Amino acid sequence: MERKGFFITFEGGEGCGKSTQISLLESALKSAGEEVLVLREPGGTCVGEAIRHLLKSPEEGSSLVPEAELLLFAASRAQLVREKIRPALARGQWVLCDRFLDSTTVYQGVARCLDSSQVSLINRFAVGDTLPDRTFFLDLPWGEARLRVGKRNGAPDRFDSENDLFHNAVREGFLRLAEREPERVATLDASASQQSLATVIQKNISSFCHVLFS
Ligand code: TYD
Repeated sequence: MERKGFFITFEGGEGCGKSTQISLLESALKSAGEEVLVLREPGGTCVGEAIRHLLKSPEEGSSLVPEAELLLFAASRAQLVREKIRPALARGQWVLCDRFLDSTTVYQGVARCLDSSQVSLINRFAVGDTLPDRTFFLDLPWGEARLRVGKRNGAPDRFDSENDLFHNAVREGFLRLAEREPERVATLDASASQQSLATVIQKNISSFCHVLFS
């Protein structure tokens, strides 16, 4: 049977504009007659949302060690893959996910300095053979991203409040990962306008599948 939906992930540091691009792509795919499921990580399931709360809360997550943090992200992802992602792909839907295993490779494996081969093993255990067909990395220098994050409403979470060194390491980590996997990971300049980014993303998607965007 011809494959209908694809698994697309969005990655990047804080404030890079992933959620805007995800909703623009969701609308464009729906206008083209596709069925779309949008998910986020950590979260997307009951179990995952409980884990998300723990991971993001500066109070409840204050004593988390990096190893436990890694396993919690992996646990949330293992649940999401089996409960939501695989069934949706099997139904022929598109799955758009706000972050996936590349975030763990970079945040835990690079910025938290955990052993990258162990991180990679745990990532693979969590997802099995469910890997993204295409990943869009929205790249923004931390200096610019920090200004965007500062304008957000609400209190900063455990990750927003990390120092500049951490956020610069995240950006470097994503850049290196994109260099290692150029076939899957497309690096986009997130300082471009929302509409031009959306157009680049749609063109990229049209290059490997049947969808005709209007
Ligand atoms: P979220 O509010 O979803 O951040 P954003 O809007 O920037 O995507 O919070 C998720 C945070 O968790 C984010 O700072 C990145 C971090 N994270 C990891 O450290 N490892 C992971 O595997 C994932 C999925 C997220």
